[in-house]
Amino acid sequence: MVRGYHLLPLLASALSIFSTEAKITGETRHLPGSYIVEFEDSQDSAEFFNHISSKAKTRMNLDYKLFKGVSIQFHNLKTAEEEAGKLNSLPSVRQVWPNRVYSLPKDEIVWTGRSGGVDYIKNVKRQLGNDTFTPHVMTQVDKLRAKGITGKGVKIGIIDSGVDYTHPALGGCFGGPDCLFTFGSDIVGDDYNGDNTPVPDDDPYDGCGGHGTHVSGIIAAQANELGFTGAAPDVTLGMFRVFGCTGGAGNDVLIDAYMKAFEAGSNIITASIGGSSGWSEDPWSVAVSRIVEAGVPCTVSAGNDGAVGLFYASTASNGKKVTSIASIDNEVTPLLLTDSIFTVDGGEQQRFGYALGEPGKWTNVSLPLWTPSFNTTDPAQGCTAFSEDTPDLSGYIVLIRRGTCTFVEKATNAAQFGAKYVLFYNNVRVGAIGPATSEVSRVLGTGMVTADQGESWVASLENGSKIVLNMLDPNTAPVSLTYQKNTVTGGFASSYTTWNPTFELDVKPQLASPGGNILSTYPIPLGTYAVLSGTSMACPLVAAIYALVSNVRGTLDPATLENILSATSNPQFLNDGTNTYTSLAPVAQLGSGIVQAYDAAYATTLLSKSSLAFNDTDHFVDTLNFTIKNLGTEEVTYELGSVGAATGYTFSDSIYPDPFPGLEFTDEYATVALSEPKVTVPGGEEVVVSVTVTPPAVNATRLPVYSGYITLNGTNGDSLSLPYNGAVGSLHDTRVLDVGYLSISTDEELDPITSRASFVLPRTNTTAVNATYPVAVALLAFGSPQVNIKAVPVNATGFAGADVGNHIFGSPLRYASRDPFTLNWNGRFADGTWAPAGSYKLRFEALHIFGDAANPAEYDIDESVEFSIRFI
Ligand SMILES: *[C@@H]1O[C@H](CO)[C@@H](O)[C@H](O)[C@H]1NC(C)=O
Ligand SMILES: *[C@@H]1O[C@H](CO)[C@@H](O)[C@H](O)[C@H]1NC(C)=O
Ligand SMILES: *[C@@H]1O[C@H](CO)[C@@H](O)[C@H](O)[C@H]1NC(C)=O
Ligand SMILES: *[C@@H]1O[C@H](CO)[C@@H](O)[C@H](O)[C@H]1NC(C)=O
Ligand SMILES: *[C@@H]1O[C@H](CO)[C@@H](O)[C@H](O)[C@H]1NC(C)=O
Ligand SMILES: *[C@@H]1O[C@H](CO)[C@@H](O)[C@H](O)[C@H]1NC(C)=O
Ligand SMILES: *[C@@H]1O[C@H](CO)[C@@H](O)[C@H](O)[C@H]1NC(C)=O
Ligand SMILES: *[C@@H]1O[C@H](CO)[C@@H](O)[C@H](O)[C@H]1NC(C)=O
Ligand SMILES: *[C@@H]1O[C@H](CO)[C@@H](O)[C@H](O)[C@H]1NC(C)=O
Ligand SMILES: *[C@@H]1O[C@H](CO)[C@@H](O)[C@H](O)[C@H]1NC(C)=O
Repeated sequence: MVRGYHLLPLLASALSIFSTEAKITGETRHLPGSYIVEFEDSQDSAEFFNHISSKAKTRMNLDYKLFKGVSIQFHNLKTAEEEAGKLNSLPSVRQVWPNRVYSLPKDEIVWTGRSGGVDYIKNVKRQLGNDTFTPHVMTQVDKLRAKGITGKGVKIGIIDSGVDYTHPALGGCFGGPDCLFTFGSDIVGDDYNGDNTPVPDDDPYDGCGGHGTHVSGIIAAQANELGFTGAAPDVTLGMFRVFGCTGGAGNDVLIDAYMKAFEAGSNIITASIGGSSGWSEDPWSVAVSRIVEAGVPCTVSAGNDGAVGLFYASTASNGKKVTSIASIDNEVTPLLLTDSIFTVDGGEQQRFGYALGEPGKWTNVSLPLWTPSFNTTDPAQGCTAFSEDTPDLSGYIVLIRRGTCTFVEKATNAAQFGAKYVLFYNNVRVGAIGPATSEVSRVLGTGMVTADQGESWVASLENGSKIVLNMLDPNTAPVSLTYQKNTVTGGFASSYTTWNPTFELDVKPQLASPGGNILSTYPIPLGTYAVLSGTSMACPLVAAIYALVSNVRGTLDPATLENILSATSNPQFLNDGTNTYTSLAPVAQLGSGIVQAYDAAYATTLLSKSSLAFNDTDHFVDTLNFTIKNLGTEEVTYELGSVGAATGYTFSDSIYPDPFPGLEFTDEYATVALSEPKVTVPGGEEVVVSVTVTPPAVNATRLPVYSGYITLNGTNGDSLSLPYNGAVGSLHDTRVLDVGYLSISTDEELDPITSRASFVLPRTNTTAVNATYPVAVALLAFGSPQVNIKAVPVNATGFAGADVGNHIFGSPLRYASRDPFTLNWNGRFADGTWAPAGSYKLRFEALHIFGDAANPAEYDIDESVEFSIRFI
């Protein structure tokens, strides 16, 4: 199997403009000319190396127990696709995949500590006592910790951007027996960017990224100045660094990292990395699935593409048996604010906190506050020039609401009237971040206070009060860690968490945990501590919980742990980022719900599955079984029931899935019939329960996805739920191709060409000649297992006849996600032969999901305008 497409990711924010006029932006996501080759176990790979000897060089040797192969780079990019195709016929080759590049997840950096040192951390007012860290309380980690369960003896392998292990809360060292990080390596080097050759070394230090350091602290941060720890502080950690300081990570690098983590004896492997897919056939997913089959649980973040709507599963979390982790918002947002003093009308000194910005020359500043507007809801305050009657602002601290334009623009407007100090107040309820206004040379000090603080000051100013800020030296002022309650989304699904299921109706994600607004460690050069948001933050917490639960249950079996964590999780109400609804969040968003570590550790009931998949209407399985195993010694009676979760319509009027928020829900649930309402299971025995589902009577054209939970209440106190998921309608009949059209390689936006174009193509294998190529653009509204792009000859009257053309070079593409795809055509067919000069149309054929590739009727077809090619 060879995929030869340049895969263009579409930014979530650009989604509304999906159409033939769509502006296509983004990076090439396949490494040109690079492939991953897996060898047949029984065959000698010498034949392979002989075959490629002069044509390609080896990028990485992937010589592992569970994956034997190489990644290669062909020297000649123009013949690479064809050469890769030939590899499939070698007896020593099992599979060939193009080498895809994954980006570092775009998690939100809510705030970081001050850069350049740990000194200010010494000023933090420390919190002492029991584990009151909310992500731990929300997941019952605090209850396990109170019993002294700390993950001791468990090795967790982390695949990420490396780690600043010099951080005092991360052990301070690497490799030694007393270090927290005892194993791992740098697979890529600082300069790796996803496209160039990885340069490995032994040291997974990260001083430039930060992501992996944050992830590491969530698992196992040691006691520190900020008064929190990781969930499992006594595990040993391994870090396999797959990102350099910029750019992405190739499939080969990820497979290498996973296999190294596995062979190093990791008991659990976690990765907060992903890319849009929706199919479980990607090579990285395949590799991770093998590791799980070999007995090592693998947790992978579900992705941060919630805005894109249903059916946008992410690799490798969409892999079979891989545990996909969704994100919940923290109930509080931690804030690290520098203390200072203010007075109102010369009254008593009061304390306030602010996030120090750049520059931060606040020492000995004592000035009254002034604001350009008393309107605390103005979304664009200070974005236009201040009014003519503005006083000389050099004797004030100017208070401006955050929003719309940049901090620099607002500070510039204030500086026009002489301002030297500008303080912002937040425009969202939660948090405050340190602004940077260094470009505005007049401004010496900047910072941000919370919305509450800013609005309260503005109210006083409007009442005619005089507020004076007596700024303490930020280098010595106390720093307070405070927690702001999140009353809007706290405890509910993070709105960015990616929606599933996969295109083959696999139930994903499996579990959810807090990932929104999470405090953890950060590289010392980048601020020492930070609050980040993403499924990247939810995933490592679950990996740590696996370690804790395994301490109690004495097993690391992936299925046992996934099943017990799924059964004991708490489903949650639907929240769209603004409102909370009375129906439960769909399984496609939140899986089993928020994990409950203590209940999972001590439950004496084990279910045989973590979810039930009822597929779509075409492949509907009306009855599925699961078994209830009573691990106790006493007989237990379970009351069985079910509860529906909100049914989400994939589509409304467009062939593109609806965005979220924006996708429509209904409270029409499936009807669930259970084989019995109550079962009694003797100690040590198991009983089979059958679940028969009647899907809700909802509009099948809109492909509604229904879900819910089978509930079990045991007389032993166990209260369990088993998620189920299905779709009404036909995935097979869902249109997948929006349009296919012709564009031109010199147009960066790849807009369609409407007039007749002629291309003069170099008939050579080198890139020496600059040419303008025809570009085939396919906009896929939904996933397709196979997309063909063919060149159909057209005669002088524009008649294409019965000729359906030949695949152009790079076609077909397998397992396409619902994204735009582009392919430059250099004038060759897929078999390497040159197309005759003449007129052509591009023909796009996208196979329906579950479609029969041999049946032409099962493809969506589109054709481009006519164009001609000739050669020089
Ligand atoms: C820790 O929790 C226990 C039990 O809830 C309580 O008795 C004790 O006072 C707590 N300790 C601190 C320092 O808060
Ligand atoms: C702040 O004021 C104190 C006391 O007047 C003085 O000693 C110190 O040098 C001043 N610091 C700065 C940075 O101006
Ligand atoms: C504040 O500004 C917003 C947006 O410009 C406007 O809609 C609102 O009416 C203003 N409120 C007051 C009290 O002027
Ligand atoms: C749904 O049915 C199709 C066709 O039989 C199958 O390929 C797919 O694996 C099924 N999905 C699940 C989750 O069982
Ligand atoms: C479910 O269990 C029942 C009763 O044990 C059995 O008859 C049936 O064949 C099972 N169905 C499946 C799909 O396993
Ligand atoms: C199980 O207990 C919960 C909580 O008491 C209750 O809401 C639910 O209805 C019970 N389920 C069954 C099947 O009895
Ligand atoms: C079902 O949905 C489609 C697409 O929105 C709509 O055209 C059709 O009228 C709906 N059918 C019914 C019965 O509501
Ligand atoms: C170009 O590629 C073709 C097909 O691989 C090959 O036969 C031919 O020798 C190559 N020409 C040059 C100049 O490399
Ligand atoms: C191709 O275009 C690039 C960039 O415009 C230019 O630097 C280069 O000299 C051109 N090469 C040839 C062979 O025309
Ligand atoms: C194009 O093909 C059609 C169908 O075979 C034929 O009728 C027509 O004469 C052809 N035109 C030319 C210019 O060859």
